[in-house]
Amino acid sequence: MKIKNIQLDSVDSTNNWAKEHVNEFDKSELTIITANVQTAGRGRFQRTWVSPKGENIYTTFYFTLPTNSMHIGSLAQLMTLSIAEVLLNEDLLPKIRWPNDVVLNEKKVAGVLCEMSSKNGTYDCFIGAGINVNFDKKTLEAIDKPATSLNLETDRIFSRDDLLEKLQTQFLNDLEIFKEKGFTPFLCEYENLMAYIGKTVICKNDQQEWIGTCHSLSNEGQLNVCLPNGELVTLSSAEISLQVSEQ
Ligand code: BTN
Repeated sequence: MKIKNIQLDSVDSTNNWAKEHVNEFDKSELTIITANVQTAGRGRFQRTWVSPKGENIYTTFYFTLPTNSMHIGSLAQLMTLSIAEVLLNEDLLPKIRWPNDVVLNEKKVAGVLCEMSSKNGTYDCFIGAGINVNFDKKTLEAIDKPATSLNLETDRIFSRDDLLEKLQTQFLNDLEIFKEKGFTPFLCEYENLMAYIGKTVICKNDQQEWIGTCHSLSNEGQLNVCLPNGELVTLSSAEISLQVSEQ
């Protein structure tokens, strides 16, 4: 698959921009839109993604997949794993907070926003990734949840271009495998990187809340949580956090 890079200076959100321009993209390519700053960066659950100029990676990967592709619900996990793999290669010790967060020392360093729409048997996939690279401490502290940046955790200055290039190569490679075999080849590596396994977690989505032990990853990349009555529930979408007494 060929990669087409589109570099923008300022946009509201790279995911929004990609959706607005989708008809201009070559559907056989992996189109990657990157911005220097986002004025209305978006996170999961309608949250804001703080996106100051020049410090971090704000990018959206656009490609198409047939609607009958295997494990399509695990695409966000695929990108999350690709980011974690890039950080591992930088000698860092990332963990994945299921489904889409990459954390370093229990603070979030990257997030993934996966949006899809289907037409005529094809999914348009917009996988947005935000990676805090050289985010300054002051701005980070203003974020309401524990967050960090690569620079803050390591005292190293990272090149955004270099990291982005590594992420493109990693994701393209992972996507080719995913297209043939779904998420199955990635289950083991993803589960090994998962934070909170064996710990009591609170899982919330728009409708419901569960408290139980973070048990494992299902065969399709969902989260298995063991409830206090021994029942195993499988969640496809939620946000998880450690129960406070265990933090
Ligand atoms: C999350 O953790 O809630 C997901 C954050 C995703 C942020 C990225 S930055 C690039 C792309 N454009 C957006 O508006 N959001 C995603």
